[in-house]
Amino acid sequence: MKTVTFCIQKGGTGKTTSALALGHGLHKKGYRVLFVDLDAQANLSFSCGVDLLNLQASLFDVFKGRASITDALINLDKGLDILVGSIDLASADREFTSTRRTYMLREYLSDLENNYDYCIIDVPPHLGVMTENALTTSDTLIIPMRADIYAMQGIRQLKGFIDEQRKYTNPDLKIDGILLTCIKERANLTKALMQPFEQIAEQLGTKVYKTSIRETVSVPETALNKSNIYDYAPQATATLDYKAFVGEFLKDNAIKKSKTK
Ligand SMILES: Nc1ncnc2c1ncn2[C@@H]1O[C@H](COP(=O)(O)OP(=O)(O)OP(=O)(O)O)[C@@H](O)[C@H]1O
Ligand SMILES: [Mg+2]
Repeated sequence: MKTVTFCIQKGGTGKTTSALALGHGLHKKGYRVLFVDLDAQANLSFSCGVDLLNLQASLFDVFKGRASITDALINLDKGLDILVGSIDLASADREFTSTRRTYMLREYLSDLENNYDYCIIDVPPHLGVMTENALTTSDTLIIPMRADIYAMQGIRQLKGFIDEQRKYTNPDLKIDGILLTCIKERANLTKALMQPFEQIAEQLGTKVYKTSIRETVSVPETALNKSNIYDYAPQATATLDYKAFVGEFLKDNAIKKSKTK
């Protein structure tokens, strides 16, 4: 199982949208996919159609030791499951204080390792204990950024956080690339605008993906309709971009399918 986290502490950059697009895209290619929602906003769970008001258990209950991992696991389709998040995760930084706190997810995922080809993790927009859990268990990170002038803020802090995880919990953690999202017009991605992102990529020892994602109204519509962009808006520009992104991701990250759908 290859584990990928969409990670940046800045809010609203397309972490959840891109996690959904990659996960559904890989599933449509016949891979077995596990989504993991570590965000108290539970946007990923909501967009997957999970009934958040009637949850048997969420990952918070699992981490608290009062539910088993299978209680928080919901089947969405054949070969597609989610470990659900919930609002309780908002107190994670206060609730979990033992040294085990960074390794909770890794411990539980090791039991599910053989059931999936890819695990796609969505984290909250801050560098707290849930993001630590994600980075401790991930093979690689994808950093979604909006192409605006404030995008660069906090990159040094993000780098420090990633380096710390590498030093203490996960020396092999990679950064697969920076994904530019919510692009108004492809033509706007001039050399001048691209340059700061290329510089950030260099600082982080990674690349900017060739594919960027255009802004399309179908994206929020899809989330509201609890669908996926490939079925809901197959011809939308963002859908075509995300398809290209899945292809680009697979060039470096393809694994042998252990079992087709
Ligand atoms: N390509 C796109 N076109 C149009 N809207 C988009 C696009 N990508 C994301 N959005 C919208 O931007 C908003 C933020 O996206 P998203 O929730 O994926 O970001 P996030 O990084 O997960 O946010 P948070 O930090 O709050 O978890 C959402 O309303 C989403 O529908
Ligand atoms: Mg989100």
